[in-house]
Amino acid sequence: MSASQELEQAATNYAIEAVRLDKQGSKGMAITMYQKTIETLLRIAHLYPDYSLNKVYIQRAMAYQERVKVLQGGIPLRPEAYQPDAESPSHQKDEKASYDELIMKEKPNVRWSEVIGLEAGKKAIKEAIVYPVQRPDLFPLGWPRGILLFGPPGCGKTLLAAAVATEIDGNFISVDAASIMSKWLGEGEKNVARLFESARKSANNGKPAIVFIDELDSLMGRHSNEVGGEVRVRNQFLKEMDGIIDKGKNLHAYVIGATNRPWDLDWPFIRRFQKRIIVPLPDHHSRLQMFKLYTNSLNLDSNLSLHELARLSEGFSGSDIKDSCQSSYLRVIGEFFESGRAEDCDAKPRAVNMEDFHQILENRKPSVSLDMVASYAKWFDTFKAL
Ligand SMILES: Nc1ncnc2c1ncn2[C@@H]1O[C@H](COP(=O)(O)OP(=O)(O)O)[C@@H](O)[C@H]1O
Ligand SMILES: [Mg+2]
Repeated sequence: MSASQELEQAATNYAIEAVRLDKQGSKGMAITMYQKTIETLLRIAHLYPDYSLNKVYIQRAMAYQERVKVLQGGIPLRPEAYQPDAESPSHQKDEKASYDELIMKEKPNVRWSEVIGLEAGKKAIKEAIVYPVQRPDLFPLGWPRGILLFGPPGCGKTLLAAAVATEIDGNFISVDAASIMSKWLGEGEKNVARLFESARKSANNGKPAIVFIDELDSLMGRHSNEVGGEVRVRNQFLKEMDGIIDKGKNLHAYVIGATNRPWDLDWPFIRRFQKRIIVPLPDHHSRLQMFKLYTNSLNLDSNLSLHELARLSEGFSGSDIKDSCQSSYLRVIGEFFESGRAEDCDAKPRAVNMEDFHQILENRKPSVSLDMVASYAKWFDTFKAL
C-alpha cells in the first residue's frame, strides 16, 4: 500500500468507528474519533495537494467538523444537516441497544504527546495505573482503583482516557453513562454487571483492564425518565466498584470516570473515586503548545504569531483552540475551491495567515465562562484528592 492509501485507509477506519460511536451515543469518544478522521483527511490534502479526491475529502472533513460542533454543543441532531459518507447515525432515544453495541473495546490510538498540559492528570494516572501495572511488588498497600476526571467541557478528559488506553497493554472498555441510561433500558443493571465482569476476567487473565465511564454524572439519573430503573443501575455500579476496590486487592482493574458536572455526584459516588483530578482550562503555555500542535501540518504565513494566538485565546478550551485552527484552515481551502483554482493541478492554496485567525477568533467566544471556572475550583477545594 502506498503512503497515501494508508492514510485513506486510516481515515476510513476512523470515520467508521466515529459514526458507530456517535450512533450509540458515546459523544466524547465519537468526537475524538471524528477529529482523528478530520486530521487524517487534512493531512492527505496537505501532503498530496494534487490528489483528485481532495475536494471530496475536504467536504467530508467539513461535514465531520459540523457534526463535532453539534456533539460539543449538545444540540439535538437535525438529520438533514449532516450527511456522512457512512451510514447515518440514528438518534432515536428509545432505540434499545445490545450490550456489545454500547461498549467500545477498540483502542482509540491517541498518544500521550497529543494531550497537552494536564500534568497533574497524567501524573495521577501514571501513579495509579501505569506504575502499579509495571511493578505491583512495590505497592504492598495496594493502589487506587477509581479515578475521577472533572472539569469544563473540551479540556481533555476523554482525550486523556483515550491516551491511557493506548499506553496500557491491556483492555480498555469504554461506555457512555448517558447511553447506559437511555439505551440499555431495563437492562442497565445487568449490563453494568457484565461490564465489570469482563474487566475482572481480563485482569484475572493477567491483562490490566480499564473501564472508562464518560459523562459519569448521567448515572445520577437526572436525564432519565425510566421509572425506578436508574436507581438500580446506580446501585449496581456502586456495588461493582466496591468489588473492585475491596475484593480485587491485587487485580489490575480500574475505573476512570469523567464528568463536566461533578456537583451532581453524591457522596457515595465521590468517595469511591479515591483520586479526583481537575482537568482545567489550558494556561498560556498550554494554549501555545496546542496552537503548535494543531497548525503543525498547515502551511502558515510568516505573519502568523502563535504567541499572539495564545494571548488572544484566553479562556478558550482545547476544543475551542482545535476548532479555530481547523476553521481557519477550512476558510483558506474553501476560498481556494470557490475560486475555481483547484482545477489547475499546479495551483496551491495560499498560506493560513493572521487575518484568517482574527476572523475566526472574533466570531468565537470561549465556551466556558468565568463563573463555571470558579465552580470547578470550589468543588475541587471541597473534594480534592490527588
Ligand atoms: N489538553 C488537550 N490537549 C490537546 N488537545 C485537547 C486538549 N483538550 C482538548 N483538546 C481537543 O479538544 C477535543 C475535545 O476534548 P475532550 O477530551 O473530548 O474534552 P472533555 O472530555 O474534557 O470534554 C480533543 O479531542 C482535542 O482535539
Ligand atoms: Mg468528554
